[in-house]
Amino acid sequence: MDMLTIAKQRFTSKHYDVSRRISEQDMQALRETLRLTPSSVNSQPWHFFEVSTPEGKDALLPAVLDFNKERVQKASHVVICAIRKDLNATFLDRLLAQEVADGRFSPEEARNGSDSGRRHFVDLHVNQLKDALNWETHQAYIAMGFLLYAAAGMGINATPIEGLDMEAMDRILKLDEQGLKTVYCVSLGYGDPSDANAVRPKSRLPLQEVYTILND
Ligand SMILES: Cc1cc2nc3c(=O)[nH]c(=O)nc-3n(C[C@H](O)[C@H](O)[C@H](O)COP(=O)(O)O)c2cc1C
Repeated sequence: MDMLTIAKQRFTSKHYDVSRRISEQDMQALRETLRLTPSSVNSQPWHFFEVSTPEGKDALLPAVLDFNKERVQKASHVVICAIRKDLNATFLDRLLAQEVADGRFSPEEARNGSDSGRRHFVDLHVNQLKDALNWETHQAYIAMGFLLYAAAGMGINATPIEGLDMEAMDRILKLDEQGLKTVYCVSLGYGDPSDANAVRPKSRLPLQEVYTILND
């Protein structure tokens, strides 16, 4: 499928076929897509949790608002996205070590370039603007976009879900203890053929209302 066709054909799944499960091979591709998501200064401030057993999904339900419960229960897999509550020095050192290990930079280049740039932006958001969680949330939503687009390209249906009790999800997944905080979850699976959303025409504002080409 070409990229525009994917954008036109994808839709938010409202009802899943509970009997269909995403293959392990496809899930591995989706996990890898999430891992490859770009983020500001390569900060990767996230952790993703995957649940696919009936018991695991049931355990999430107290944190899922009523209108979304079925979308979690009947989906094949659910991915919960969390962000770090603290972008501390240990984590920044870990990012630097990974960039060096991956051969992206020499240790000197990394320390003088990407690492100092990253520390500058982290300091800006943590200490000056004091909006680090907001900044991290922006990065987390890029991952959502990647996941939704990749899933659609692979013929997998998805539901982006913000309709959650985030604090309840934090408690269920014991995120506080891990220095993490829920941002959203995405259900993945194969849509029930009766899902009316699958055949509703897409509705978006016209291009000229949301996009301006500035030529001079
Ligand atoms: C950030 C975000 C949060 C959303 N939260 C929910 C949700 O909690 N439950 C749900 O059924 N749909 C949710 N949606 C789906 C939107 O309503 C949907 O994307 C929008 O109406 C456009 O329709 P489409 O995805 O079918 O093109 C969410 C979408 C986004 C991008």
